Amino acid sequence: MKKVILSGMRPTGKLHLGHWVGALSNWVNLQKDYKCFFMAADWHALMSEYKNPSATNDFIFDNVCDWLSYGIDPKHSVIFVQSQVPEHLELFAILSFLTPLGWLYRCPTFKEQIAQLKDKEINTYAFLGYPVLQAADITLYKANAVPVGDDQLPHLELAREIVRRFNSTYKREVLLEPQAILTPTPRLLGLDGRKMSKSYNNYIALDEDDKSIKNKISNMITDPQRIKKEDKGRPDVCNVYSYYSVFAKDKASEVYDWCTGAKKGCVECKKIFTDLLIEFIAPHREKKREFLKKKDYIYDILKEGTSKAREIASKTIVEAKEAMGL
Ligand code: TRP
Ligand code: SF4
Repeated sequence: MKKVILSGMRPTGKLHLGHWVGALSNWVNLQKDYKCFFMAADWHALMSEYKNPSATNDFIFDNVCDWLSYGIDPKHSVIFVQSQVPEHLELFAILSFLTPLGWLYRCPTFKEQIAQLKDKEINTYAFLGYPVLQAADITLYKANAVPVGDDQLPHLELAREIVRRFNSTYKREVLLEPQAILTPTPRLLGLDGRKMSKSYNNYIALDEDDKSIKNKISNMITDPQRIKKEDKGRPDVCNVYSYYSVFAKDKASEVYDWCTGAKKGCVECKKIFTDLLIEFIAPHREKKREFLKKKDYIYDILKEGTSKAREIASKTIVEAKEAMGL
């Protein structure tokens, strides 16, 4: 029996290179060794985007098309939308009974998000429970492991604590403590050197067109001390170099050499990278264009995913209720 993995993404915007490096590339690779469940976490998205819910629907469709075009295979993995499996909210409620408020107030992501997303008014009852819903997502499928970035580790730790509390309260090992699978790839910064994020508009989308890729890369800041081509550059402080080390690892030492030896200028260096990135993105973008046209095909995949997910999720709910004597 293959071990089970569950992971999710919040459909709050277009997917970009940061999602590929930090999550999606990992998902694609895990498919061969694990039974995978990949979920569009729309309830989680709505916890912050509740003022404009219809955008979430559009992003579900768009994001799932990216997943497929970058290699998530519906023949091997279960792809579904959280809100179509009502068991998520049911287990969320059950787990809420036994989750102390202190655990949630103490969660670092809660404080950070409240401070960062001031305009979203997320100082709400639901948002405080964000990690409880995430615990329900994971435990419904008895996931052994969850691939996450390090920012999500506190949520995983909370999920483990909630599981222990459920099992010890009802004296039955119904839920499983999930392990974290940390994404091994380095973090990719945004074009301006800050965290890559849609709110900073400093990203390259997974379906970015060629012209716009060229434009965005040509505007990237390089080593600020390198003004003329004759100046020797410092790749270690240059964001373009860090992009090379993620997307064209085998070329990185050559870049290091032409930069530190002032053999190529930044314009040429960026041009070469632009071509490499276009070569990477273009075939996926073309695949996605086809998927976007096949709405019925995508909805069929989600429908099938939903029914497979519900089959398992509903069993867990029955077991949980039995353990509680309901
Ligand atoms: N909180 C995750 C994020 O922001 C998304 C998510 C929701 C998730 N449910 C999950 C991730 C379950 C892993 C497992 O990235
Ligand atoms: Fe960065 Fe390339 Fe310029 Fe060096 S040559 S500073 S790596 S853009």
